[in-house]
Amino acid sequence: MSVKIQGKGPLRGEVSVPGDKSVSHRAVIFGALAEGRTEIEGFLFGEDCLSTVSCMRQLGAAVHVNGETVSVDGVGLTGLKEPENILDAGNSGTTARLLLGVLAGQPFYTVLTGDGSLRRRPMSRVTKPLLQMGAAISGRAGGTLLPLSVQGSHLTPTTYTSPVASAQVKSAVLLAGLFAEGETTVTEPEKSRDHTERMLAAFGAAVDVRGNSVTVTGRPKLQGRTVRVPGDISSAAFFLIAASIVPGSDLLVRNVGINPTRTGILDVLTEMGADMEYINTRDESGEPVADIRVKAAPLRGVEIGGEIIPRLIDELPVLAVAALFAKGETVVRDAAELRVKETDRIAAMTEELSSLGADIEARDDGFIIRGGRMLTGGSVKSHDDHRVAMSLCIAALGAGITVDLDSPDCIAISYPSFLETIKTLGSGLQEWDK
Ligand code: S3P
Repeated sequence: MSVKIQGKGPLRGEVSVPGDKSVSHRAVIFGALAEGRTEIEGFLFGEDCLSTVSCMRQLGAAVHVNGETVSVDGVGLTGLKEPENILDAGNSGTTARLLLGVLAGQPFYTVLTGDGSLRRRPMSRVTKPLLQMGAAISGRAGGTLLPLSVQGSHLTPTTYTSPVASAQVKSAVLLAGLFAEGETTVTEPEKSRDHTERMLAAFGAAVDVRGNSVTVTGRPKLQGRTVRVPGDISSAAFFLIAASIVPGSDLLVRNVGINPTRTGILDVLTEMGADMEYINTRDESGEPVADIRVKAAPLRGVEIGGEIIPRLIDELPVLAVAALFAKGETVVRDAAELRVKETDRIAAMTEELSSLGADIEARDDGFIIRGGRMLTGGSVKSHDDHRVAMSLCIAALGAGITVDLDSPDCIAISYPSFLETIKTLGSGLQEWDK
C-alpha cells in the first residue's frame, strides 16, 4: 500500500489532535494497578496504546471500551495474575519498557516480545537497573533484547543514575519501585517527560521530585480516578509546522498538552520565528493544556542541543522538515537517541529528504540542514516508522509537491486519523490505495 500526498495550499480552519500517547499508556497501566475504577477520557486509540491494553488484559485487568471512553477495573498493586501466553508489545517501546518494570515485581513468570523493530531496540537500559533491584530477567543477546522472560521476584529498592535521559527508563524503575519496600530513586542527566511522576502522585503514591531526581515510596495504595488525556503535542507538531511553512495558513490546533517537559518544540519554533498564539490555557487532570493558533511565518535556522533534546525528541523528524523551509542552517546535536527509536530516524530522514532534493547531512548525534532548496516530488519510504511517515507528508505540503509514500500503515501507531485530517483540511491527500 502507498499513499499520494500533494501539497495544495494553505491550511485553514481547526484541528483537534488525538490523545497523548504517553499519558494514555500510563492511565491504563496505573489504572490496572489501582483499586477501583479508572475512567480515561480522550484515550488515544493508536496501535501502541492498544498493545498496552491487550497486555494489561492478559495480566488480569478488566479494560472496557465504551465509545470514546476507556474504563479500567483495577486489581490493586498485588492483584495481577500470570498470563497464559506471551505478552506482545507490538511496536511500542513504552509498553515494553514500562511493563518490564511492573513484571519484575510480580510473583509469577512472563515472556514479553514485540515486532521486528522493537526486537532490535535496546532493553539493557531497563533490565540493568531492574537486575540491580533483584529481578530475574533473561533473553537474547545476554538478556538485552526482546523476547525477554521475567521471573518476578522480591525486589529491593534502589538508587539508580541513568546514563540516558529517558522517561521509559525512569518509569520502569519507578514502577518496579512500587513493589519494593522503601524508597527508590532515579536520577537522569536531563529531565525527561514527567507524566509518570504526575500521574502516580494523582493516584495516591508518595512521589518526591528534586531537580532531575525522582523518588517513589514502595507499596502505596493506588486509588482509581478519572484521567482526562490531553491532546498529544507530538501529533500537534505536524500541523503546527505544516501551518507555519505553507504560505497563507491560519490554523487553530485544539487541545494541545503543554507539559513543560514536552514543549521543546514550541520553544524552538518560537526561536525560528513561528507565529503562534496560546488561547484558553487550562489544566486537565494535572496536565496543562492550550489551544494554539498558528499562522504561516518566515522561519530562520537554529542550533539546538543539550537539555532541550529530551523535551522534543519525538518532534525532531518533523523539525527537520521545518528546517528545510527556514532561512539559513539548522544544527541538531546531542540527539543520538534518535538512532534507537522505531527506526534510525537520523538515517531515515536524511535518506528520504535527500531523495526529494533537500540539503541535509547526517551526524552521529543529529543533523545539519541548509534551508531554502527547491524540493522535487518523488517516492519516499516510511521505514515503518509513524513519525518518519507523517514528517514526509508535511514535507510534501510545505513544498507543494507530490510525494508517493510507501507503507503508510504505521501512521496508526500514534495518529490513526492523520491522513483523514489532511484530507479534511483540503491540503493534500490525493490518492489512497488501500
Ligand atoms: C516515551 C518516552 C520517550 C519517547 C517515546 C514515549 C514515554 O522515549 O520517545 O515516544 O512515553 O515514556 P525514551 O524514554 O526512550 O526517551
